[in-house]
Amino acid sequence: MEEYKIPKHVSIIMDGNGRWATRRGLKRSEGHLAGSKTLEKLAIHAIDKGVEVLSVYAFSTDNFKREQAEVDYLMNLFIKMFSTKFATLKKKGIKVVFSGRKENLRDDVLKAMNKIVNETKDNTRGILNVCLNYGGQEEIVDAVKKIVSEGVDPDTIDKNTMYHYLYNDLPPIDLLIRTSGECRVSNYMIYQMAYSEFYFTDCLFPDFLEDEFDKAIDAYNGRDIRLGGNSEKEE
Ligand code: FPP
Repeated sequence: MEEYKIPKHVSIIMDGNGRWATRRGLKRSEGHLAGSKTLEKLAIHAIDKGVEVLSVYAFSTDNFKREQAEVDYLMNLFIKMFSTKFATLKKKGIKVVFSGRKENLRDDVLKAMNKIVNETKDNTRGILNVCLNYGGQEEIVDAVKKIVSEGVDPDTIDKNTMYHYLYNDLPPIDLLIRTSGECRVSNYMIYQMAYSEFYFTDCLFPDFLEDEFDKAIDAYNGRDIRLGGNSEKEE
């Protein structure tokens, strides 16, 4: 029997918080709050299962176009999560890192981000990469700017060099999950998902709890992963 594979890097587009709330006659903000509780559980579950890196799309550069009240609610929720709830992640030995641009983020948000990064920097059980004020094309542009400003010799640049210049030097994404039935990539970690398996589910993010995560890992195990080579499964 084939060995059950745990993907090294799983990345989630956490979509559907608003619809989850609206369907229950609640405010959108309550959907985000429910989503934040799901994220806390999932991070612990994923790392306990042996996933090395869990990346999540918390806020895109485009999300600033949302109503100011929703943006403010999300920023305050992030602060609350990083300064209180993420303590459980810290205890579990999970290192928290962030990907995204620092510009346009409020000082109190930056402060809460820096604090959790410092408090967890020596943790080694797994990594939670929170993409905040993040865009995949922006990440590539920022990497190119860094490469140019450092005067790197073009002949020394290869696919792996690029990883080093992205916001965090993380392994490529093995499994990309998007909840809520949307089948788009939405400018998310486009360099790192060149060879990812995709798992799209109708489940709304607040309901994407441990059992739903396990279904995604089961689906990943049913895939024939070739990375451009030949099939290992019988024809
Ligand atoms: C997308 O749902 C979700 C977001 C833009 C925010 C994601 C944030 C969380 C899950 C909160 C916790 C995160 C951290 C890092 C503490 P949507 O609002 O687009 O839903 P809709 O498509 O149904 O409107």
